[in-house]
Amino acid sequence: MTNAPVKKVPIHLQSSQNRLLIKNGRVVNDDGMEEADVYIEDGIIKQMGRNLIIPGGTRVIDATGKLVMPGGIDPHTHFELEMMGGKTADDFYKGTRAAVAGGTTTVMDFVLPQKGQSLLEAYSNWRSRADSKVCCDYALHVGVTWWSPSVKKEMEQLVNEHGVNSFKMFMAYKDAWMLDDYQLMVAMETCLELRALPQVHAENGSIISRNTEKLLAAGVTGPEGHQLSRDEEVEAEAVTRACVIANQANSPLYIVHMMSKSAVQALRIARTKQRPPVYGETLAATIGTDGSHYKNACFRHAAAHVLSPPLRPDPSTPEAILQALADDDLQLIGSDNCTFSEKEKELGKNNFSKIPNGVNGVEDRMSVLWQKGVNSGIMDPCRFVAVTSANAARIFNLWPQKGRLAVNSDADIVVWDPRLERTITAANHKQAVDFNIFEGLRVVGSPQYVVVNGRVCFDDGELRVVEGLGKYLKTEANSPFVYGGEVPSRSPVNEAPHDIERSTNGTPTHGDLL
Ligand code: URP
Ligand code: ZN
Ligand code: ZN
Ligand code: ZN
Repeated sequence: MTNAPVKKVPIHLQSSQNRLLIKNGRVVNDDGMEEADVYIEDGIIKQMGRNLIIPGGTRVIDATGKLVMPGGIDPHTHFELEMMGGKTADDFYKGTRAAVAGGTTTVMDFVLPQKGQSLLEAYSNWRSRADSKVCCDYALHVGVTWWSPSVKKEMEQLVNEHGVNSFKMFMAYKDAWMLDDYQLMVAMETCLELRALPQVHAENGSIISRNTEKLLAAGVTGPEGHQLSRDEEVEAEAVTRACVIANQANSPLYIVHMMSKSAVQALRIARTKQRPPVYGETLAATIGTDGSHYKNACFRHAAAHVLSPPLRPDPSTPEAILQALADDDLQLIGSDNCTFSEKEKELGKNNFSKIPNGVNGVEDRMSVLWQKGVNSGIMDPCRFVAVTSANAARIFNLWPQKGRLAVNSDADIVVWDPRLERTITAANHKQAVDFNIFEGLRVVGSPQYVVVNGRVCFDDGELRVVEGLGKYLKTEANSPFVYGGEVPSRSPVNEAPHDIERSTNGTPTHGDLL
């Protein structure tokens, strides 16, 4: 099933680890639940059902009263990212270790080249940072942060030779990563040609720049200025524009980190009328906290919540976003884990626009969604699986290797205890960062065991990850979920009539218009 060379696991980690039976649990996939035992050998699910015949010496986990679900896929992380003068606290080891502790067994990180940098060079840098450190499997999206014919060539190589099937374009971060609409459209057309998936960060970077100048001139320098410079409308406009550009390019589209009701409403409208699909991702931050924190008197506290697009002051946002996830107006939840410690956030002490953007979430995403979405009755466990793993696996073409519990799928499994209670706090989280935006949140429902490629890496509360055990996942282009329903060859440009007959003597033939 795996599509990358299997790394050699040291002998002392093999033997009894190779066979595992998860017994008496309730298996949850996105399309249903069943009472089934799960038997794993060499990292792959070999049998599922009751009364299985199992070789002696197999380790048995009793999952009575527990749910057995596909390990989470976090479609959006930034480990070891240098951004806005800071470097993220979580590297690929600490970040994936924290992911596993929270029930996530695959992460998708973003290669973000500097303006003018070769995409291939940036990709190689990311691989060399990640490969020796990851505690779970990972895949990569690549940012298209500038445009030239050489970028197009490198996108081709990334797709055809390096297993990249998604590219992120920025409509914000003017003068850094932002593309203009022309470049955005050409990048989307390139993705379509390659049968890759374009992703966008949807915010209007020009409006943000102008609003920032005005706020700073008026003396608003604190973190509250961040939200004021980029309110909901600034996000919703970009969502609509991105959808229109994708539609004109005849391309599918994936909008990352959707943070507001207005943005989701814009997406909802586009999804009803566009043929190539448009997908929306939201974040654990959006449902687990809110924009009121920007007004906190403590700079550290307020700055810790700065990410883009920002958390919203409208208190009805978290519930509306949860409902959108439940109703399939949004398809996935990620973390956008991009953690900066206090020292780095201080870079923006006197100017909110210099606060490095990003929050935590890779560790708590699953529990926060369970608490806010499932315990509240807004979604059932199947939908929980859909938005935390299955939909990501389908969209990024990892299905059914990942995101599904079935014979022949990878043994990436979380044994979920729906009664396990804990309070989230930076004092005992596994992430490297010194702040947790979910501080004090009481959650009922957490992983008891987490199995990564057949190995129990979170063992009844004890973290036993192996640095470098994870592998790079090649994501093949032409995902059947995205491109399966044939992409229409028609586009508004193709539809334009080419055969209008006009009189050559300059006399208008008004009758033709009727
Ligand atoms: O604030 C954020 N989202 N930081 C990470 C970079 C990005 O735009 O995803
Ligand atoms: Zn972004
Ligand atoms: Zn504080
Ligand atoms: Zn991000």
